[in-house]
Amino acid sequence: MELRIQQVCILVLLVASSADAAWAPHGMVASEHVLASQAGADVLKRGGNAVDAAVATAFAVCVVNPSSCGIGGGGFMLIYLAHQRRALALDYREVAPAAASRDMFVRNGKAVAELSLHGGLAVAVPGEVAGLAAALHRHGTLPLATVMQPAIQLARDGFPVGAHLAKEIVQNVAGLRSNPALAKNFLHPDETPLVAGETLRQPELAETLQQVARRGPQAFYSGAIAKRIVDSDRAAGGVLTESDLAHYQPTWRTPLQTSYEGDTVYAMPPPSSAGILLEVLGMLRDDDLRALEHNSPTYLHLLAEAMKHAFADRAQLYGDPDAVAVPVQRLLSEQNTLALRQRIEATRTLEHSAYGSSAGSGDAAHDHGTSHLSVMDANGNAVACTTTINTGFGAMVVAEGTGIILNDEMDDFATQPGVPNVYGLVGAEANAIAPRKRPLSSMAPLIATRDGKPVLALGGSGGPLILSGTLQVLLNVLDFGLDARSALAAPRIHDQWEPPVLVVEPGVPASTRNLLASYGHTLKEMPAMGAIQAVRTDAGVFEGASDPRKGGEAVGW
Ligand code: DON
Repeated sequence: MELRIQQVCILVLLVASSADAAWAPHGMVASEHVLASQAGADVLKRGGNAVDAAVATAFAVCVVNPSSCGIGGGGFMLIYLAHQRRALALDYREVAPAAASRDMFVRNGKAVAELSLHGGLAVAVPGEVAGLAAALHRHGTLPLATVMQPAIQLARDGFPVGAHLAKEIVQNVAGLRSNPALAKNFLHPDETPLVAGETLRQPELAETLQQVARRGPQAFYSGAIAKRIVDSDRAAGGVLTESDLAHYQPTWRTPLQTSYEGDTVYAMPPPSSAGILLEVLGMLRDDDLRALEHNSPTYLHLLAEAMKHAFADRAQLYGDPDAVAVPVQRLLSEQNTLALRQRIEATRTLEHSAYGSSAGSGDAAHDHGTSHLSVMDANGNAVACTTTINTGFGAMVVAEGTGIILNDEMDDFATQPGVPNVYGLVGAEANAIAPRKRPLSSMAPLIATRDGKPVLALGGSGGPLILSGTLQVLLNVLDFGLDARSALAAPRIHDQWEPPVLVVEPGVPASTRNLLASYGHTLKEMPAMGAIQAVRTDAGVFEGASDPRKGGEAVGW
């Protein structure tokens, strides 16, 4: 057993250090698994557009990284359409069941984290199948059955377990052992974990995907599969109903946008909190970051302070825009971002309560679930798509006989005002639980365009680390002129305001850390912060790169 774990660790390192950028003339897919990127690149090769490829990649990654994402989860897709010079945002985030209530996780006056993380109550109504089908229906060119084929094949015929999945199996082995439906797939008969390189087959999931491919999303949201989802959720203590599934609808939303360094940056609107990244760009707009120098103490301090203001706004003001008014336009206004910038001091931090637009009035979690993919095609279309079942293996509830692992997205709500969730994030009334409400998300797909043409599509996984990682990779490319590979490889920092800790990767030198500490930051080291997938184009060539921290790979053609 120990030997196995050692083998896994060595494999993780090998994968991490071998990740490389791909360059190609016709199109590019970057995702958290080479087989998923390959599925998307094959679709591009046979004439599909970026949306076709993104949907194929998303279904495939749900099969090959099933601890991170799946059809039992949900996500966001940001699309840039070249011929319309327009960005679109598709929200297929899970929603709370109709029977959910504000204090459903509170026992004896205190929120019980285990209830919002594992078991039936943790499960929100999945949006993945409806969302991917809607994206394809409106902006794809190929039939659902065609783009789902690689996923079905990977589930049915099997694939070698990748380093990330192997690590997740080891980390969650106790939970897997106590759940026969999960143990059947991810453990050997003697309950030892499947290791990297061993073949994983998921015949039940293959059959479920096959039914969706044949009959469309209604195969998932009604009938036998829906009943199994509901029965399994309720048997695990949940409150889902068939009516919850039948009512699920993905929502097309207007993306947020800002101009930065002559480019236009589009971001997923709430219930994503990607708006805070545009708020940071607003704060940094008048600074000459290049003159400050990449990853210099002055630059990192400015970045950390700007992030703290924006994360404080996230905690206080962000939630589901269909349920609460999120004042995004006010937060992104020049008036607000300039005022926040003026409050940032050159060499010192502020009182904790002084951060955020309404001021005056830790420990970030490691990367578990979630998967991001970025795609560009030869016609100038781009997609940035992030999908998740939240933490590793979601709620650890499988819909009996279907291979569907159900999400634990209910933990993304503020289960009690000010009580941190699994990522240490706190929330307020705006993100309180209510029936059919969407929980706030850190998933932040972004697309940057120049003169109406996409130049960068990116996003990531890692809970709140998505936000800081995506921001730094964006700045690395747009401000510091790095290629995608170098932009991803550069060491990162993260500060989500609460808890008041500036987390740094090992590559941030001691001299920089000492100076940051002298400014008032409390520093902590974390080995690998989030995983970003980026596709960039320059002079007619596509570059794709997958974050070396998670072991994916970009594939072009
Ligand atoms: O939507 C969110 O913010 C979280 N459910 C994302 C979780 C995540 O990224 C897990 N880690 N990789």
